Amino acid sequence: MEPRIYIETPRLLLRDWILSDHQVFIDMNKDERVMEFFPSVLNDEETLASIGRIATQMDDLGYGLYAVQRKDDGRFIGFTGFYLTCFESHFTPCVEIGWRYSVDDWGQGFATEAALACLDYNKKILKIKDIYSFTAVLNKRSERVMQKIGMQYQGTFDHPDIAEGHPLRPHVLYRY
Ligand SMILES: CC(C)(COP(=O)(O)OP(=O)(O)OC[C@H]1O[C@@H](n2cnc3c(N)ncnc32)[C@H](O)[C@@H]1OP(=O)(O)O)[C@@H](O)C(=O)NCCC(=O)NCCS
Repeated sequence: MEPRIYIETPRLLLRDWILSDHQVFIDMNKDERVMEFFPSVLNDEETLASIGRIATQMDDLGYGLYAVQRKDDGRFIGFTGFYLTCFESHFTPCVEIGWRYSVDDWGQGFATEAALACLDYNKKILKIKDIYSFTAVLNKRSERVMQKIGMQYQGTFDHPDIAEGHPLRPHVLYRY
């Protein structure tokens, strides 16, 4: 069966995850450049568990972190989409928009293109009132995507799941 396509952009398809995405995502999550601003890289089991959590949210909510496929060569290159976030803070529970791509596909505007299309899809279809995004203060690349898609800076917060004193604990928060 063909995977469901939720969103199409000039260069990308945002679709359900398929089995052949798994190994690519496993390799991405072992890449220290991709995971530079996360507490650690992920092993195979951790990546498969995260794919399971994404699939569960997609089933339960009807939206989620979509697998992103390039139209030109058909490759799965990462994800962009929505995630219901529940860690303890002044803005949660909330729906966040997030992104992660293979290094070879960085710097070509894919994250921005997919995220803009997601915001448009939310405006027309999902109609979730507030969409948040956050990342480590050090992750300027990701923050730049937030700015480019028109999200508004809300300030900083300390991520409760990251230890006090850890350089990745301070986060920026944006809202759309
Ligand atoms: C963040 C990420 C998704 C961006 O993907 P991408 O497809 O390269 O993003 P885009 O090409 O759409 O835009 C990236 C922007 O960041 C800018 N940028 C790149 N490196 C930068 C840096 N060190 N400092 C500031 N801006 C930077 C680019 O110039 C570009 O902005 P511009 O168009 O104004 O020039 C990608 O780097 C990634 O997957 N990182 C690892 C996972 C991650 O950190 N996810 C976010 C966790 S919250």
